[in-house]
Amino acid sequence: MTIDYKLDADGIATITWAMQDVPMNVLNQQSIPAFADAVKRAQADSAVKGVIVTSAKADFIAGADLNMVLALKDAAGMLDFVSSLHSLLRGIETGGKPYVAAMNGTALGGGYEIALACHRRIAADNPKALIGLPEVTLGLLPGGGGTQRLPRVIGVRNALPFLLEGKKLAPKKALEAGLVDEVVPADELLSRAKEWLLADGAKNATRPWDQKGFKLPGGAVQSPAGYETFTAGNAMLRAKTFGNYPAPEAILNCVYNGCQVDIDTGCKVEIREFAKLATGVESKNMIRSLFFGITAASKLASRPQGVPKASYRKVGILGAGMMGAGIAFSSAEVGMEVVLLDSSAEGAARGKAYSEGLWNKRVGAKRMTETECAAKLALIKPTTDFADLAGCDIVVEAVFEDRAIKADVTRKAEAVIASNAIFASNTSTLPISGLAEASARPANFIGLHFFSPVDKMPLVEIIRGKATSDDCLARAMDFVKAIRKTPIVVNDSRGFYTSRVFSTYVGEGLALLAEGVKPALIDNAGRMAGMPVGPLALADEVSLELMARIRKQTAADLGAAYQRSAIDDVCDRIVDQLGRLGKKAGKGFYDYAQDGQKRLWAGLAKEFPLATIQPSVEEVKQRLMLIQSVETARCLEEKVLLAPIDADVGAILGWGFPAFLGGPIGQIHSLGVAAFVKTCEALAKRHGPRFAPPPLLRDMAASGKRFYDR
Ligand code: NAI
Repeated sequence: MTIDYKLDADGIATITWAMQDVPMNVLNQQSIPAFADAVKRAQADSAVKGVIVTSAKADFIAGADLNMVLALKDAAGMLDFVSSLHSLLRGIETGGKPYVAAMNGTALGGGYEIALACHRRIAADNPKALIGLPEVTLGLLPGGGGTQRLPRVIGVRNALPFLLEGKKLAPKKALEAGLVDEVVPADELLSRAKEWLLADGAKNATRPWDQKGFKLPGGAVQSPAGYETFTAGNAMLRAKTFGNYPAPEAILNCVYNGCQVDIDTGCKVEIREFAKLATGVESKNMIRSLFFGITAASKLASRPQGVPKASYRKVGILGAGMMGAGIAFSSAEVGMEVVLLDSSAEGAARGKAYSEGLWNKRVGAKRMTETECAAKLALIKPTTDFADLAGCDIVVEAVFEDRAIKADVTRKAEAVIASNAIFASNTSTLPISGLAEASARPANFIGLHFFSPVDKMPLVEIIRGKATSDDCLARAMDFVKAIRKTPIVVNDSRGFYTSRVFSTYVGEGLALLAEGVKPALIDNAGRMAGMPVGPLALADEVSLELMARIRKQTAADLGAAYQRSAIDDVCDRIVDQLGRLGKKAGKGFYDYAQDGQKRLWAGLAKEFPLATIQPSVEEVKQRLMLIQSVETARCLEEKVLLAPIDADVGAILGWGFPAFLGGPIGQIHSLGVAAFVKTCEALAKRHGPRFAPPPLLRDMAASGKRFYDR
């Protein structure tokens, strides 16, 4: 049974979504026809006075079945599916009988669009429920009439943030915003729906836009308010997306064009735009990586099997600096007891104060009570005494990036903690297997690479050392999940995966600078390609000094095998000779003013004279983006990475690789492996072997293999 139908003695039919074998009700090729049959039955039966649409599951309807969206490739099939949904919903609206959506829980996307087509929306006061149209976040638009009905219900200006940002609201907030008409206690939901149908249904069975003289609330598209909304909206969108994301543009199109005509014509505009997006490469990339990839990683899909789930009560953190303080916060946030150790009492206290600051902000915003804040703070014990680590289930080390110091704290901690407790290092550059040599039990030694700021960044790169056991890996993954982060698992190697590939983006920026490419062109091209920050600005943020130090360390470690490049020359010049260490020091490639404004350092032109012939923006974008994909392919070939999707999830969550490309492997997949190989061969000829495609890619190109089957 997918959809249940019941008629009561008072003439109220209840259509209940109750899909089997799936966690949530979704719109797909089974549920839509079943729902259509139920609607047909209600319409045909003269005994039916009104209809309630509700769900037997914990939530109302989650939206379209994304497996189906990914699988549908041809525009014609997509058009058929969406058109049939539209006629069904228009049938509900214009069939003459009143419908109420009784939303017991979350109603998102297509689920909320069904509710929007009903004559009234009543939501249960369910604090876990979320209501909204998040399609844009997966490169799609609300294709079930959402772009047409929501503006007609709450006005264009109010509707656009929901459509363009995918904002989701809890029922009470949804009521304030006009997304629902009523919020009632959960146990009164169905009785209230019935009451409305019997008392007010008949007189509300025609929607305002199907009546003569309908005016868009808040002003027409062609009105002063409308002009302002669309001209400013377009410009703001362009500034944010550089045209890389077709979905928000398509949404603006639908609202602009669709809200100047009758709703049936408006829906036609929406159907056409939806089919274009849903068959386009950007939405496929976003659904694959952002939805399926991140969901699987968060659910620990690659966790070694057969290891009992570990729970965490007490966590030790060594080093209460920027990273240690953040990890302490994330652990106490979920109720773990935290021992925060530093070499000085002041240092440890400062680390704890970081959490205090974050929670106090929340108290200020009334999102936390003083009592809750105090209880959380009490979980963190600042200390200088290793003996306090006794009883910790895991210890995470975030002391200075120095092998000797790390070895010292490893020994001191292991002397205190249980023999099966995990010892994790948050090193960003030192190979884990080497650090594990200081450990008396290397099987329980692992890398947990967090990102800064820890409280905001969702990714943890888990690094498996040569001796790390499956048991330790599985339990470390449980820890990452427990503190609500998303892990990817990689094998040990210099820079692991994220730092290694991320640094190629920054490095390419420096190489371009060394060639005499305009600094503004380099950084603008990075942002236009979809990266959050240009490579030179990023180098400043990471700190040029740190980059230079890591390169020197790598050169020392690799000896004769190290291939020095123009990037090293730029680093040495800017750091050693010019003393421009980066943003923290107030000067790097940019000068930083007191008020936070930055501008490119005027002296750059003298240090790195401009070439007479400048490359095009497209050429610079291509180099900055493709270099990341080539290096990622090398990581796969060397088995640093175990699966392509890990690369894509790690890049998007770790350093903001643009989601519309799906990730560095998604980018190769989108271009086609053979085309990618050809382009990289040409780049390698011009710019050097760093662009040379690895054998893995050449073989794939030769045999026509792909990374993803859809
Ligand atoms: P930090 O300099 O802010 O903090 C290090 C802390 O460790 C200081 O409070 C210091 O007093 C303490 N410490 C040093 N030696 C100690 C010892 N023997 N016993 C106890 N405490 C000691 O450094 P940050 O940025 O927090 O980095 C820490 C680690 O995390 C490093 O290994 C770094 O490579 C790594 N990391 C840093 C990231 C970043 O963005 N800063 C990102 C990912 C990893």
